[in-house]
Order: sequence, then structure tokens, then C-alpha cells
Amino acid sequence: MTYKIAVIPGDGIGNEVVPQGVRALEAAARRFDLSLDFIDCDFASCDYYERHGRMLPDDWREQLGTMDALFFGAVGMPERVPDHITLWGSLLQFRRVFDQYINLRPCRLMPGIKSPLAGRKPGDIDFYVVRENTEGEYSSVGGKMFEGTEREVVIQETVMSRTGVDRVLKFAFELAMTRPRRKLTSATKSNGISITMPWWDERVAEMAGHYPEISLDKFHIDILAANFVLHPDWFDVVVASNLFGDILSDLGPACTGTIGVAPSANINPEKTFPSLFEPVHGSAPDIFGKGIANPIGQIWSAAMMLEHLGHQDAADAVVRAIEKVLAAGPDEAPLTPDLGGRGITDELGNAIANAIKAS
Ligand code: NAI
Ligand code: MG
Repeated sequence: MTYKIAVIPGDGIGNEVVPQGVRALEAAARRFDLSLDFIDCDFASCDYYERHGRMLPDDWREQLGTMDALFFGAVGMPERVPDHITLWGSLLQFRRVFDQYINLRPCRLMPGIKSPLAGRKPGDIDFYVVRENTEGEYSSVGGKMFEGTEREVVIQETVMSRTGVDRVLKFAFELAMTRPRRKLTSATKSNGISITMPWWDERVAEMAGHYPEISLDKFHIDILAANFVLHPDWFDVVVASNLFGDILSDLGPACTGTIGVAPSANINPEKTFPSLFEPVHGSAPDIFGKGIANPIGQIWSAAMMLEHLGHQDAADAVVRAIEKVLAAGPDEAPLTPDLGGRGITDELGNAIANAIKAS
């Protein structure tokens, strides 16, 4: 079968790193005999916005809805278009309309990368953050009263549904089942947030009944954040509500070094809609055009996409190729400046594609 992949570079360095992700995918497709059909999309960018007055074409749901996956770069050029327009007009639409209710980020310390945490080496940090991506604290329920007066009141409600919470928990337990340690950590705050969070804990306990093989623990979000820094080796899969997951899914990758290597996936596990794969970083206007953007976050996102499509062997080959090139170090491999090297985006992408071919 042929997979249809929408390629959406977006803005800034998205245009520099996405081609390297495609190059890695092409190498993996050849090596593992996969058929990938890339469909280039120019929307979800400030260029498109300046030409059309909107971020997306009217029929974007039809265009993208038939894809097997969306391969996304980054969106945003705040000096040209305000960030809330670019983000709400594109990426957040994809996540919502395509019910990508899982946000998944691996936090793995790669060879050759120095962790900001003292004394940590590759192998010490290797876990996933699973964030609920559609409800929870990020609801639009609430309002303002007596605006602009001394009596001004604002309320914003947390919305958690059994459907919404159970499906993210199920995904997290299933992911933990695929990993050797079979360990799941739940982020809670049932001491302070006295209605939704004790209920979250109950849903976790109930779901745990279906997974007796999983060793389960939970931490309040405050000490959990501290433990990411103090004991990152404790974690295997961490599941969290939208807000807690947002924070943990930035802190986790930060513990593993440069933002240039971190990947992420926005997943609709049932595959009713296409899932979206993108690096954690943004469009980096400060380095755009210099050719020095690190393409690894984008290439690792390509590996997550291959895994989602069911090709674990190809996904593993891409990750191993990244590790091999990183392990070679800046003297042997064309690592980009953020990795301490003098390489450019194209050279690093090429080196990784060659390592995939040779795998
Ligand atoms: P950013 O991630 O674009 O950049 C932060 C810093 O990291 C910059 O100094 C940048 O040069 C560096 N950096 C980022 N990616 C890199 C790479 N691959 N290689 C080497 N260095 C890299 O975040 P920032 O500056 O806060 O946002 C810039 C724009 O990107 C904004 O419009 C923002 O809204 C957007 N953004 C979009 C995201 C998305 O599309 N998912 C995510 C984050 C930000
Ligand atoms: Mg965030």
C-alpha cells in the first residue's frame, strides 16, 4: 500500500528541516521497501496568509482528511503575523478537528549530547510524556464579569470527561506495555485540586485494573517536576492532563539537551483522522536563512510517523541512524552549531540519510 503524507513545512526553519525529514523518509522507504507519496502543502504559513488573508484553504479538511499522516515543520513569524493568528489558524485546527487527543514526546538522552543535568549519560534518561491534548484545563468554559471595575471576576473551568481521560490513560498503559520496564507514572495534584484530580486518580486506578503487568506510581505535579530533574531515571511512561502534560513535555526534552533534537507526535490512535508529526521547536526566526538549523528533531519526528504507520523496523533504523551520527561527534560528523559542530543542515541531513541507507 502507498501512504499519502502531507508535507507542511510552514514558516522559518520549517522550510529548512522538513526537506531533511523527507530525505530520511525516502531513505527509509527505499531500505524497507515502503511506498510513500508526499503531497506538498504551502498553506499553514505566513506566506500563504499574506497572499490569501487566512492560514488555510476552505477545503483543508477534505484535502488533509484523506492523508495517512501530516508531516509538519513549524508555524509562526511574529514580526509578520501575530502568533495567535498563525497558531490558532493552523496547527491548533489540525489538532482539534482531527481529534489528535494524544500528544506524545519521547525524552531520551542521545549519544554525544550533553544533558543540562550533571552527570547524566545516554541510557540514563529514556521515557515518554503522554499529554492529554483536547480538554482538561484548556477549556473555553468560563467568562468575565464586571470587567474593568473593582468587582472584576474571571472564571475558567477545567473540563474532564470520562471518555477523554480514559482514552489517554488507555494509550499510556498500552505504550507502557510495549516497553521493557512496563512502568507508568501518573501526574496528579489531588491534594490541592480537590475535585478533578482525585477523580483523575480514580480513573487511573480503574484503568490499572486492566493492566496488572504495569507497575504504576503517581506524584503530585510539583514534586514530579522536581523528580524529572533529580531522578529522570525513575521514569518510563508519564501520563498527564493537558496543562500538567504541557509543562512536563517541555521540561522532559529540556533535560535531554538541545531543543533541536526533540520530536513530538499529535496522535489520533484510532486512525479515524490523520496524525501529525512535528519537531518540538518552532520556526526559529533568529537562525532562519543561515542553513544551520538542526534537522534531527524533524527527522526523529519522521521516525515517530513510521512507527505510527506500523513500520517499527524502519522507525528504529531512523533513530539508530541519528544515534550513530551523533555518537560520531563534531570532528567526524557534520553536526550543526547547536551540537557543537560546524556542519550545516543539509550536510547533517545527508549524513543521517546515508546512515539509514547503510543500516
Ligand atoms: P523556537 O523553538 O523557534 O526557537 C527557540 C530558540 O531555539 C531559538 O534561539 C532558536 O534559534 C533555537 N532553535 C530552535 N530550533 C532549532 C533547531 N532546529 N536548530 C538549532 N536551533 C534551534 O521558539 P521561539 O523563538 O519561541 O518561537 C519562534 C516562532 O515559532 C514563534 O512564532 C512561535 O509561535 C513559533 N513556534 C511554533 C511551534 C510550532 O509550530 N509547533 C512551536 C514553538 C514555537
Ligand atoms: Mg508547550
